[in-house]
Amino acid sequence: MTRTALITGATAGIGNAFARQLARRGTHLVLVARDTVRLEQVAAELTDAHRVEVEVITADLATPQGMDRVADRLSESGRPIDLLVNNAGASLAGWFGSTAIADEDRQLDLLVRAPMHLMDAAIKSMSGRGRGGIINVASVAAFTPRGAYSAHKAWLVNISQWANWHYADVGITVQALCPGFTRTEFHQRMGAEIGDVPKWMWLKADAVVKGSLRDLERGKAISVPSLRYKVLSTVARHAPATLVAKIAQRGR
Ligand SMILES: NC(=O)c1ccc[n+]([C@@H]2O[C@H](COP(=O)([O-])OP(=O)(O)OC[C@H]3O[C@@H](n4cnc5c(N)ncnc54)[C@H](OP(=O)(O)O)[C@@H]3O)[C@@H](O)[C@H]2O)c1
Repeated sequence: MTRTALITGATAGIGNAFARQLARRGTHLVLVARDTVRLEQVAAELTDAHRVEVEVITADLATPQGMDRVADRLSESGRPIDLLVNNAGASLAGWFGSTAIADEDRQLDLLVRAPMHLMDAAIKSMSGRGRGGIINVASVAAFTPRGAYSAHKAWLVNISQWANWHYADVGITVQALCPGFTRTEFHQRMGAEIGDVPKWMWLKADAVVKGSLRDLERGKAISVPSLRYKVLSTVARHAPATLVAKIAQRGR
């Protein structure tokens, strides 16, 4: 049973849906993001609605200080975290090679280094207790060659698959959640043009999270929400890389 979950990027989109669904189940929460005012609003709302304890940590996960603050919380043995949701993320509008390298560094830190540090702290702490769960929010983009964002998400999928197998014996379940286009603040924040994305390709954050939590209970290493994206990701994994790269020019 999950008593306390730590969710990064819990103020909007998929992370916020995790916070709401877990609070509804009676799970205490530790919420992480950069915007303190918004974090406190979400915390107050969930405490009132579900009588759960909600703690907030303001942290920029693209910085070493931010990562350390959250990793330290995960390592606290007196207040254990049973479920880590590595969700915080963003993307750049431009393709790798046309963007500023300093921005790419921040992306690498946010999408790879931060989840790596938090996973490390969580695994060390959970192994001692013999149980725990980790959800790494990746993307179906991980199955397509599509620049740096896809490469970062592919890293997350690969390590999650391995960790799911490697740590099963000590009671830790690790999952890579791989959504397709999901209605959140993500595309608006990156300034992406999404008007030509067909309606059928859009998922709801609530459905994405519901499927992920169900798949976690089943111990699945990869959760791809919806039948349409299950089919698309299977095709993408087996088709020639150049063809997939050509088709997958759009979206993150
Ligand atoms: N939406 C999609 O179509 C889609 C598809 C596949 C995968 N994903 C993945 O899903 C995850 C969640 O994305 P979303 O769509 O829910 O995005 P979103 O609605 O833009 O929410 C992003 C969340 O992450 C936090 N965040 C962003 N940068 C941060 C930083 N440097 N440090 C700490 N927190 C930070 C934001 O809060 P603050 O701004 O206050 O920090 C916010 O709570 C991401 O990993 C994304 O790559 C999204």
